[in-house]
Amino acid sequence: MRYAMLMCAALFGVGGATHAADAPKPLYTVVDGNKVDPNTLKGFRTWRAAACDRCHGANQEGMVGPSLIESLKVLTKEQFIQTVRDGRLEKGMQSFGNNPNVMDNIDHLYAYLKGRSDGAITQAKVQAIE
Ligand code: HEC
Repeated sequence: MRYAMLMCAALFGVGGATHAADAPKPLYTVVDGNKVDPNTLKGFRTWRAAACDRCHGANQEGMVGPSLIESLKVLTKEQFIQTVRDGRLEKGMQSFGNNPNVMDNIDHLYAYLKGRSDGAITQAKVQAIE
């Protein structure tokens, strides 16, 4: 039910796009598959700085940790934040709740990874939209 409501919100967001002033801000903006808005770029930099790639792979496709390309198709944003904040220590996922850079940029990190998971951001390494 919760999931369905989120889906409705997403659809409404798309439908509202014609009324630019009223439209909710998109989660991320990407051009040519690898040029992104400033916040999504911050998300990528946070990913790099926290070295999530050590366990999830440079392209988010999984190593010791699972593929986040797949995970973010399933996890809600709340579940994502909770996992990154608290970790799953017994399963090898570390906690980033004490990492201010990660926690301050968690929305941007989510936006970046969601863009990767959606297939909209086609390369893991992104740059600013000129
Ligand atoms: C030391 C290795 C390691 C690091 C570093 C790491 N992870 Fe993980 N992560 C894991 C493992 C292992 C799991 C799987 C835990 C489980 O089995 O439930 C996981 C699970 C996750 C999940 C849940 C996936 C799912 O499908 O439920 C998310 C989201 C995630 N990690 C995001 C991140 C992010 C973002 C970072 C960087 C800020 C990060 N991880 C850094 C090892 C790591």
